[in-house]
Parts: sequence; C-alpha cells; structure tokens
Amino acid sequence: MRDTILAVVIGLNVLCGVLTFFMPEMGNFILLSISTGFTLLALFDAFVQKKHSLMRAFPIVARLRWVFEEEREKIQQYFIEDDLNGTPINREKRSIVYQRSKKEIETIPFGTQHDVYRKGYEFVKHSLFPTDHHHIAGERVLIGSDKCSQKYNASIINISAMSFGSLSKNAIMALNQGAKLGDFAHNTGEGGISPYHLQGGDLIFQVGTGYFGAGETKNGKRVFNDEIFKKNAIKPEVKMIEIKFSQGAKPGHGGILPAKKNTEEIAKIRSVEPFTRVDSPPRHSSFSNFKEMIAFIQKVRDLSDGKPVGVKFCVGNTDEIESMIKEFADSNNYPDFIAVDGGEGGTGSAPLEFTNYIGTPLIEGLVFVNKTLKKYGLRDQIKIIASGKAVDAFDVVKYLALGADVIGMARSFMLSLGCIQARECNLDTCPVGVATQDEDLVEALVVKYKNERVKNYHQKTVAAVKEMIAAIGKESISNVEAKNIFRRDKSEKIASLDEIYYN
Ligand SMILES: Cc1cc2nc3c(=O)[nH]c(=O)nc-3n(C[C@H](O)[C@H](O)[C@H](O)COP(=O)(O)O)c2cc1C
Ligand code: SF4
Repeated sequence: MRDTILAVVIGLNVLCGVLTFFMPEMGNFILLSISTGFTLLALFDAFVQKKHSLMRAFPIVARLRWVFEEEREKIQQYFIEDDLNGTPINREKRSIVYQRSKKEIETIPFGTQHDVYRKGYEFVKHSLFPTDHHHIAGERVLIGSDKCSQKYNASIINISAMSFGSLSKNAIMALNQGAKLGDFAHNTGEGGISPYHLQGGDLIFQVGTGYFGAGETKNGKRVFNDEIFKKNAIKPEVKMIEIKFSQGAKPGHGGILPAKKNTEEIAKIRSVEPFTRVDSPPRHSSFSNFKEMIAFIQKVRDLSDGKPVGVKFCVGNTDEIESMIKEFADSNNYPDFIAVDGGEGGTGSAPLEFTNYIGTPLIEGLVFVNKTLKKYGLRDQIKIIASGKAVDAFDVVKYLALGADVIGMARSFMLSLGCIQARECNLDTCPVGVATQDEDLVEALVVKYKNERVKNYHQKTVAAVKEMIAAIGKESISNVEAKNIFRRDKSEKIASLDEIYYN
C-alpha cells in the first residue's frame, strides 16, 4: 500500500511539473507547489518519522484518520447523534438549557420522542385538579441547624462547585453575576475565592483537601490555616461553607488542575508553583476520624462566625457513612447540610477509572443518606443538597421527591454559558471560553451577555419546577414525594419511586 500511495503522489507531482514546464501559468505553479508539498510529506511519513507505524505504512492517508479522530466528538454531535442518545447530556436536555438561557421558544411540537413503554421510563402522575403554578410555595429553603447562628435562605437550585482554574475568569464572573441577578448561590469550588467570585452573588466557600484559600503548604503538606480561612470565610458574600470530601466524578481522588491551566494568577491564589499539575490530596490532613471531623466542622463554624457548614461527598462505603451519621447523633454536633454528589457527576479533569467505576450513583446515594439521617433523628437539622446531572425541571422534581432539599447543578450552568459539550475541559482548548485559561479563548465569552443567560436558565427552570408541582396538585415544592413519581421497572410494571426505594 505504501508503494502505491508514494507512486500516486510522486506521479501527480511529476505531472504537475511537466504541465508547468509547458504552460508556465500561475494556476499551474500553485498546483506544482501543492503537489511538491504532498510528495515531501509522504516521503517524511514513510521514511523519516519512526514513531507512527500507521503513517509509515499509509503515508498521508493515515493523517486523515487523525483528523477524524480529533473531530470525532463534533462529527458525532453534528451529524450522527439524535435528540436522546448524546452523552453525558443528550441534545434534548442541552437544547432546553440553551432555550431557557436565551429566553427562546421552549415548547416542542407533535409529541414526545421518548418511548413511554421502555423499561426505565419515568413520569409524574398528575392531578385532575392542578393548583395554580403562580402561587406555588417552597422555592427557598432555610439551611442551618441549631448549631449555626447565620442561617441561609437558599434557592432550591444553585451553582455546584467549579473552581477558577477549572473554569475561566469570565465564566466565573458570569456565573457569579448571574447568581446575583437571580438571587441564588454560587459554589466557589475547591480552588478558593478569586476576585472574579466577588461580583456580588452569594457564595458557598468550598474547602477541599488542598485547602486553597483556607490553608498553606507546610513541610510539603497542605494544611488548614485558621487565619487564612477566617479572612475569606467572614466575607459578607460567603453565606455557607462546604467541606469537600469527594466528588462523584473522582471519589477517593483529589482534584486535578492540569499544568497548562495553572497560570501565574491561579497559582498565586492557590499558593502553588505555576504551570505545574496540582493534585489535591485524596484526604484531609486536619482530621482522621469522625470525632476529629466533628471538632473540625465546629472550628470552621466558629471561625466563620456561625455560618452554615456542610460536607460534600459521593456515597461510597455505606457502613462508614452510617457510622459518621451515628457519631453526629451521639455527639450531638453535626454539619448543617450534606451535599450528596452522584457518581454520574461532572469534572474538569479526572482519571477514567475513577469517573467510570467509582462512586454510588446519585439516586442510591441520596436515598441512603436521607434514610440514615431519619434513622438517627437528624433529618430536621441537616439539609440535603443533591447533584448529579440535574438539567430540566423533571430532574429537579425527582431528586426533591427522593429526599433532597436543594439541588446543585454544575454542567447545566456551563451549558447556559455556551458550553457545547466539546469535552476538552482538561486540554485548555475549550472553544467557547468556559473551561480554559487561554486568553484569546476566554475573551470569546462576553460576561455582560452570559450573566443574563445564567440568570434566565435558573429563573425559567424554577418556573418549570413550579408548573410540574402544580400539575401534581401540590401547593408547595417541599410537598413533592417519591410516591408522585413512577418508573416502568424491569418486569415492565409501573412502580412509584417510593415503592422502589423506600419499601
Ligand atoms: C468543570 C467542573 C469543575 C468541577 N470542580 C469541582 C470542584 O472544584 N469541587 C467539587 O466539589 N466539585 C467539582 N465539580 C463537580 C460539581 O460540583 C458537581 O458536583 C458535579 O458535576 C455534579 O453536578 P452536574 O451533574 O450538575 O454537573 C466540578 C464539575 C465540573 C463539571
Ligand atoms: S465546550 Fe467543551 S471544553 Fe468547553 S466547557 Fe464545554 S465541554 Fe468543556
């Protein structure tokens, strides 16, 4: 095959040479240059480079394969996938985010594209007497146990943790301004608080195992520092503190900031070396058992002047989680909220095995935490924030019905900023300026337009939640129950989520 390709390329080159010799016109000179370029490239592929066997065997032609490999994601999205089969977030869900963000028409014609007889199909049973969706209560939830003195009245939908570093400064500014415009909260992610977070929107200050913005490096180890933490935690924008144990996309693994994205500015905020890969440790250095953990929660609460303090994790070993909740009950001290992240959760960068094979999916994790809090009599004190691919109002209603009080969304808000799911967040090449530190690409995201979109998406999704709650015949969002949602199970019978998960 190699000889045939070389013969064709060289033959064409000779032909162009002869043509140009007899007819020395501009067009022929251009043809000759192009064909000479191809000949040199073919000879390079076949004889000079030694790394790529495919290119040695199929000079030039093998390069086409790489082009298609590179563009596979886009080709798939634009030409192959239908509305329901794109992953991780299908086109139908992505479209509703774009429509709600841009305040475009958000109805669909002709009927559902879903197969309502397939196993796993889920739906809500509505009432013959819907309530008035204009008067549905419960879109705010008060977070704060009896241990906290500055309770926070949260929206039922907030922006889940994503750091400056993982996201661009313009993305962070647009998210925070959107949160301000729409009166909801923006989680800083584990990368600390940057000036771009301080645009007036409410903040949930996340403290990860790297203690960025809450600690320092001592003897090569990241450790919590009371003073550094306090300085940030008492900022008026900070409404709650979230201590991160793990996230669903990589539980048991600390956060990863790729070297390319660790710019001078980001490194300064995190107090680390610029342009090096930053791996947060997999566990906290401030405590090593539940008693010490509870003492740490109380210390953080005191240092932040009594703001609500929560813990975020993806459910793993359930015995461990139960022991932790039992310890909360026994010591009569506990966090104000637990953020349960599903194994299906998103990330800027994670090892494949951790993303695919570690961590309990949200529904099972959420139900377990809810049941266990009830078992130990703590459900009234500790609120649950759930995150894991919540995009439209049905996702929100379902998670609330299964026991969540509040929903966190990360990727949906990225979509509202214009993310096209190109899935290059770990490469610093995000084409829409959301998940990159490349200045030119960052400039593509214009904050003053995107902040509105963030606000619109939140506002319209909350409105859609209210419409669903009204269709069920309830007066308040908080009244939705697992027995209102149904699923066609494996045996093709329809069962309520209450029967499936709570009996
Ligand atoms: C780009 C990106 C960065 C993230 N960074 C963090 C982080 O710093 N801390 C954290 O706890 N979770 C982080 N997450 C996880 C989200 O906060 C959230 O828990 C998860 O993506 C599930 O929500 P989603 O399905 O709505 O995206 C990140 C997710 C994404 C997509
Ligand atoms: S467009 Fe692609 S690279 Fe940018 S945020 Fe979205 S998924 Fe990540």
